[in-house]
Amino acid sequence: MHSTMECLTDWMTRQRWYAGKGRVPNLVEVSRQGWESDDPDASIRVLLVRDTANNPPSLYHVPIVARGTIPRGKGPAFIGRDEHDDYLFDGAHDPVYTRALLRRLGVHRDNQASRVHSGEQSNTSIIFDAGSEAPLVAKIFRLVHAGENPDVVLQTALTSAGNRSVPRMLGSLTATWIDPHGSDTHTDEPSTGHLAFAQEFIPGVRDGWLLALAAAEEGESFADDAERLGRVTAEVHTALAACMPSREPTLGDIVGFVAGWHQRLAVAMSDVPQLRELRPAIEAVYDAARESPWPALQRIHGDYHLGQVLRRPSGEWLLVDFEGSNVVSDVIHSRTEVSGCWFNECVYLFT
Ligand SMILES: Nc1ncnc2c1ncn2[C@@H]1O[C@H](COP(=O)(O)OP(=O)(O)O)[C@@H](O)[C@H]1O
Ligand SMILES: [Mg+2]
Repeated sequence: MHSTMECLTDWMTRQRWYAGKGRVPNLVEVSRQGWESDDPDASIRVLLVRDTANNPPSLYHVPIVARGTIPRGKGPAFIGRDEHDDYLFDGAHDPVYTRALLRRLGVHRDNQASRVHSGEQSNTSIIFDAGSEAPLVAKIFRLVHAGENPDVVLQTALTSAGNRSVPRMLGSLTATWIDPHGSDTHTDEPSTGHLAFAQEFIPGVRDGWLLALAAAEEGESFADDAERLGRVTAEVHTALAACMPSREPTLGDIVGFVAGWHQRLAVAMSDVPQLRELRPAIEAVYDAARESPWPALQRIHGDYHLGQVLRRPSGEWLLVDFEGSNVVSDVIHSRTEVSGCWFNECVYLFT
């Protein structure tokens, strides 16, 4: 029997979303919420856990269901047995937690049966598609950050603006915690961040990366899809400029962006030395961009690649996963609500 943190230490390293691959986590419990359970034999503990072995220390969201006995069929989601003799289960796979999650998200469903999305994921998506009601997906963020999560904020703004190129947002959930170990909390002030959201689930979609690979394998052209994808990319970003704040770039922004490009070029050249002969041509593009008139800075997808676009069976493209990288989130949080093009800026400037 072990403490909850000891049980999680072993289990977390085997989870796909664990960011510190190959390292042993050093976990500290930051906060624990007890959620109301609809099963008298099961209690729900929603934990925020800081891994201080990571630099900067990551904050994980770990919902757990504690039970006095092992129910049938719960084997794969078993975490461990704690010092109080409770059996701990991964909430994402436990109906007691997933039903409570729907309640917290303010989403009503008659049929609450769920399954965990099996694809490659950095978070955990729980799909509710049993019965005849419109299917939905609840995504629980595994890495939690203080401040608004762009995945929630941008998709909510697009949904409110009537944009149909993102799945419709249905609700979201935040938590507040105090964490003396965090890099984003220097005081004992409370922080608030998003834990989860629910949105419309679109059945039968295929992601752009797999579609492009399949086309390449078959020797088929991807040009028509790429053309439609380009259009929808522009439409969504035009919509974002209209429904979220934007502002003119300052000289400081421009200098900062250009320095970032050079820094990334240096990293790329050290990884791939063959790039060095292209350096003058690449730097000429940077110079031309710096001297060109800059568009207003606006919110963007932030982590845009073919794995984040889904093609409906009808052929229309959808954009998902606006979370961006952690760095983008931090930049957005520290630069208040108007943040700009940080990683995708070159793409945006030249479209
Ligand atoms: N609304 C949705 N409808 C259908 N499938 C979805 C939806 N949202 C996500 N997916 C599926 O889940 C995958 C991962 O979603 P994503 O938002 O990129 O999660 P992560 O943050 O874990 O990368 C997508 O590639 C897609 O296959
Ligand atoms: Mg993704």
